[in-house]
Amino acid sequence: MSLKHIFSPLQLRHKILKNRIVFGAHTTNMAQDGLPGDQHLGYYVERAKGGAAMIVVEPMPVHAAAVLTRGNFRHSSDDVIAPFRRITEACQAEGAVMIQQLYHVGAHGDWDNSWHANWSPSGGPSYHDNDGSHEMTVAEIEETIEGFVQSAIRCQKAGFDGVEVWAAYHCLLDQFWTPFSNQRSDDWGGSLENRTRFSREVMRRIRAVCGEDFIIGLAINDAAEVEVCLSRDEMVEIVALHDAEGLMDYVTVGSGSYFEHQKILPTFQYPENLGADLAERLKQAGLSARVTAESNIRTPENANTLLGAGRSDLVSIVRGQIADPHLVNKTREGRTDDIRGCLCCNQQCWGRRGRDYYISCLINPSVGHEYLWGGDRFTPADNPKSVLVVGGGPAGLEAARVAAERGHRVILAEASAELGGQFRLAGLQPRRAQITDLIDWYGRQLAQLGVEVRYNTYLDADEIAAISADEVVLATGSLPEGTGFQKALPHIATLPGVGRGNVSSTEDVMGRAARLGHRVIVLDEGGHWRGIGTAWHLAEAGHAVTIVTPDAMIARELGRSAADLPARQTLAGLGARFVTEAAIAEWTDAGARCVSLLTGEAFEIAADTLVLATGNRADTALYHDLLALGITPHLIGDASAPRLAAAAIREGRLTGLAL
Ligand SMILES: Cc1cc2nc3c(=O)[nH]c(=O)nc-3n(C[C@H](O)[C@H](O)[C@H](O)COP(=O)(O)O)c2cc1C
Repeated sequence: MSLKHIFSPLQLRHKILKNRIVFGAHTTNMAQDGLPGDQHLGYYVERAKGGAAMIVVEPMPVHAAAVLTRGNFRHSSDDVIAPFRRITEACQAEGAVMIQQLYHVGAHGDWDNSWHANWSPSGGPSYHDNDGSHEMTVAEIEETIEGFVQSAIRCQKAGFDGVEVWAAYHCLLDQFWTPFSNQRSDDWGGSLENRTRFSREVMRRIRAVCGEDFIIGLAINDAAEVEVCLSRDEMVEIVALHDAEGLMDYVTVGSGSYFEHQKILPTFQYPENLGADLAERLKQAGLSARVTAESNIRTPENANTLLGAGRSDLVSIVRGQIADPHLVNKTREGRTDDIRGCLCCNQQCWGRRGRDYYISCLINPSVGHEYLWGGDRFTPADNPKSVLVVGGGPAGLEAARVAAERGHRVILAEASAELGGQFRLAGLQPRRAQITDLIDWYGRQLAQLGVEVRYNTYLDADEIAAISADEVVLATGSLPEGTGFQKALPHIATLPGVGRGNVSSTEDVMGRAARLGHRVIVLDEGGHWRGIGTAWHLAEAGHAVTIVTPDAMIARELGRSAADLPARQTLAGLGARFVTEAAIAEWTDAGARCVSLLTGEAFEIAADTLVLATGNRADTALYHDLLALGITPHLIGDASAPRLAAAAIREGRLTGLAL
């Protein structure tokens, strides 16, 4: 397929973008003491080297009330200028146009991070937490506008080519635009002209002080399904008003809002190309500003299709370029098959940002560590060795790939007929085929790198010793306990009745090795995809599913990746029953005898089959056999300690780098 639309250059004010792919704004939360440092430099330079035409660096809070995360940059301080200049110069040297987002979240702040009351047009509630906000006086409005202007001046001094004024997701500017949150009766509320006065003043004054050779962008969102948010017609009218005054050079359109946060970073549960519909409406309005579509566009193929159809002038791919910083160059070189495709899982990007850690990536552990690991690239090993990797799950695949990239001679032995281990089973859950795509990507990479993959090869310690590899990597994974042990009932080592039959693990279910009755209980201790995705698979297949969890809510751990609410909505829609704060005391012929963790009361759930999404145990037998033979293998992934796939891939990468 020709992806030529991506590579047609575009004039943006005084700059020519070399292609149409933007690396849009996102909080990486990497600042140290409020300043950008080596971690930022490594992160952004890697994406500039990878071919992104324009990078929108993570937001600068424009005022004390705008601070949202621990890792935000110092607001209102010239201290940021010199460290940012290092980043802009290094990225511009790679051909990227550099923009910084300026933000103020208004009512939805975090007062005990900012140590400042949240400010908003009319003192509305925060949708970030349970706080209320302070209704801004006219003097405070002026002070905040000045904060935007001073921030833009600092950006210019730091070498940025422009700024992106944030009016998306019902942030402060959008709060002024939206009648729900702007009930003012002065010059800043009421008519459309008054409600847009704040944003227009911000942009007008930035242009006045920063001059003509400075890009000004506007970030907006599409949340038309939320009753109190602006409709698409209203949004087009507002953007057109700004455009008619020549206030911005581009407008970028994301999805979701503070009212439905999960749609700001839509996981694989949502359709692709979410910002494209409103972007198309803006294109049809005939703006002079360029229009960028963003949100779940994910692949170069999607980007090319949107651009080719004229639905946008530019496309922002954020998580796709977190996952593969070289996405653009690989596309240009006709190597789209080599792109490591984002899973839209949010587990290590939003999942870490939401906990106020710096971001990383489940499938690309170099994120946030570029400055330590030489980017997402590899240097040849000084001393190429023979390497035997035992186990073709995510840890073993990454170790084998990286070792081979560095010039080692690698054999990968996999006990089954397929690569991927338990991660492949996750990929068989509904809508999660991006995981099987990733495993196919590993297969292609290993083939290109000349890794010898031995399928159906279960090796014991003597056989491993006989191969005489210089290095042995043990990535044999973990196994379900099978005892029905529950952390909520630690005094019961083995669930009474677990040997009665009709009890399976999630792995058995997804591997189609389980005989299932109609009424299924999924006992989910983890609140993660292992149990939730299996329950979804079963409910979709027509089983009557009851999820029993010790947690106060179903899918608790998916809250980190903004995937819990849509998961619960889907399960509820499929008729699944949720039993929370409960454990199973006995599995009987009739079903499960449960116990409430709140009252201790016993109750029954009639069922034919029990599926255990309880803990796994590392498979270490081979490890100890090898130690006894005097071989010390690199023990990685679940074989070291059962965890999520992110840990396995990270340890695979580190092992491959260290050999
Ligand atoms: C970790 C993370 C942090 C984000 N922070 C911001 C932000 O500070 N400002 C913003 O406008 N968008 C932010 N976003 C939203 C992205 O700009 C983008 O709209 C979203 O990720 C969907 O696009 P994608 O599918 O290409 O990733 C963030 C996204 C992620 C993954």
